[in-house]
Amino acid sequence: MAEGLLLGLDIGTGGAKGILVSLEGEVVARATASYPLHTPRPGWAEQDPRDWWEASLKVLRELFQKAQGEILGIGLTGQMHGAVFLDGKLQVLRPAILWNDARTGEECREIKELVGKERLKRIAGNPALAGFQAPKILWLRKNEPENYARVRHILLPKDYIRFKLTGELATDASDAAGTLLLDLKKRDWSEEILSALSIPREWLPKVYEGPEITGTVTAEAESLTGISKGTPVVAGGGDNAASAVGVGVVEEGTGLLSLGTSGVIFVHTEVPRPDPKGAIHCFCHAVPGKYHLMGVVLSAGGSLQWYRDKLSSEEKEVAERIGMDPYEILTKEAERIPPGADGLLFLPYLSGERTPHMDPEARGAWVGLSFAHGKGHLVRAVLEGVAFALKDSWVRIQRLGESPPELRAVGGGMQSPLWRRIMASVLGVPLRRLVVEEGAAYGAALLSGVGAGVYRDVHEAVKRAVRLREEREEPHRALSSLYAGLYERYVRLYPALKEAGIF
Ligand code: XUL
Repeated sequence: MAEGLLLGLDIGTGGAKGILVSLEGEVVARATASYPLHTPRPGWAEQDPRDWWEASLKVLRELFQKAQGEILGIGLTGQMHGAVFLDGKLQVLRPAILWNDARTGEECREIKELVGKERLKRIAGNPALAGFQAPKILWLRKNEPENYARVRHILLPKDYIRFKLTGELATDASDAAGTLLLDLKKRDWSEEILSALSIPREWLPKVYEGPEITGTVTAEAESLTGISKGTPVVAGGGDNAASAVGVGVVEEGTGLLSLGTSGVIFVHTEVPRPDPKGAIHCFCHAVPGKYHLMGVVLSAGGSLQWYRDKLSSEEKEVAERIGMDPYEILTKEAERIPPGADGLLFLPYLSGERTPHMDPEARGAWVGLSFAHGKGHLVRAVLEGVAFALKDSWVRIQRLGESPPELRAVGGGMQSPLWRRIMASVLGVPLRRLVVEEGAAYGAALLSGVGAGVYRDVHEAVKRAVRLREEREEPHRALSSLYAGLYERYVRLYPALKEAGIF
C-alpha cells in the first residue's frame, strides 16, 4: 500500500478544524480558522456559509503546505442540523440557520400536525425539535417568502463545503437523519414526509454512506488550496457520528461520553431503535447501514464555563498570576467538598434542555443553599448536576435495550480527574479515554481512508488507527449508591420548578 495522508475537515460552530493523519492513525498536522456566530435576535443563531468556505480555504492551504506526502482522500464533518439555502445559480440566499437556533417552535407544531406525530417518529425516528433542519425550511416559507421563492437547493453545513470543493450536491446518511426528512430504515429521503410538508425532493442532495466517494476536488479548488484535482472527497458524517468513528464506536456494545460545551452520550446500534417517548435521538451512523442513539445535554462543560466567566474573577486572576488553568483551581476547590455538596443540587439548563425535557424554556438552578455553602460547593454541585443530567440520557438509552459495558470518554471536561470520578460513579459505568483525542475531524479522515481504498472498511480503519488507554475510571461503589439517592431527588426538581412557574 502506497504511503500517503488522509485529511479530515470539521466545520464546527466555533470554527473550521482540519487535520492530516498518517495511514497508521498518527496526526501529523493541524490547522484551524474561526468565524463569527451571529445572533440577530435572542434565540437565533446564524452563520454565513461563505465564512465557512473562507476558513476552510485557509485550513486546507495550511494543511497542503504542511503535507509531506500525497493527500489520498478528504473526509468532511461538521455541526449538524443547519440549513443552507441556495438559489438556482447555486448562490447562498441568506445566512445559514444553525442547530442551536430556537426560532421554530411553531413550525415544529405544524410538522407534527402535517406529518402526524406517530408517522414522524416511525419514519424519521425522532420528534420535531426546534434545532433540526425541516422546521427551518417551513420557517423560511412563512417568514421570508421572497427568499423561499428563490430556493432551489438546501444543504447541511459541511455539504456546502463539499459543493465548493467538488461541485457536487451530496450528503451522508448520519447528517441527513438530523433533518427530520430522512426515512431512517431506507437511509434515503422520505417521500411521505416531503409531500406532507410540500418540500420538493429535487431541492435535497443525494444521500451517500459515510465512506462513499461523493466527488473529487475540482481544478478551481486545486487552484485555491493546492490539493490536487481529482482527490476523492467522501461523504463523511455529522460531528457526533464522525467523532464516534474516530474513537472506535463502530460496533454493537460500544458507546461514548463526550463532555465539551454540550454533553453527549452516543451508543452504536445495529438497527434503528427509536425512543417511543422521543427523548433520545435515533440517527443513522457514519458506519454503512448502522445506527446510533444519542442524548444531548446542551450546557454541560458550558455550565462550568459560565461559572468561570461570570462568578470566578478571583480564581481567574490567581490562575493567570501563577500560570495555572482556572478550571484546575475551580475543580481543586470542589475536590475539598464532600460528594453531594452538603445537600446542594444544580440543574444545568442554562440554555433550555434537549434530552430528556426537549424544553427550550427550561432554566438552571442551585437548590438547597444554606449559610454552610461556599464557592467550592457551587462548583461541586455544577459538576454533579451535569453528571445527573447525562444520567437522564444514559438511563433512557439503557431502557431502549442498549447498555455498553464501558463508555469512551472524550472532550475537555473529561480531562478533569474529579469530573471523571463523579461521572463514572453517577452513571455507574467505567470510562475509558483514548491515547490521542482529536474529535470529529479524525473520524472524517478515517472515513476518507476507507473511500480511498486504504482500509477495507471502517472496522479495519479503527483497528489500525484508534488506540485506547489501558486504565479505566471505575465507578466507586459507595459513591454510586450515594449518587443514586441524590439522582432520585434531582429528577423531581425539573417538574417542580416547571409547576412553580419558574420557566
Ligand atoms: C447534535 C447537535 C450538535 C451539533 C453541533 O444533535 O445538535 O452536536 O451537531 O455540534
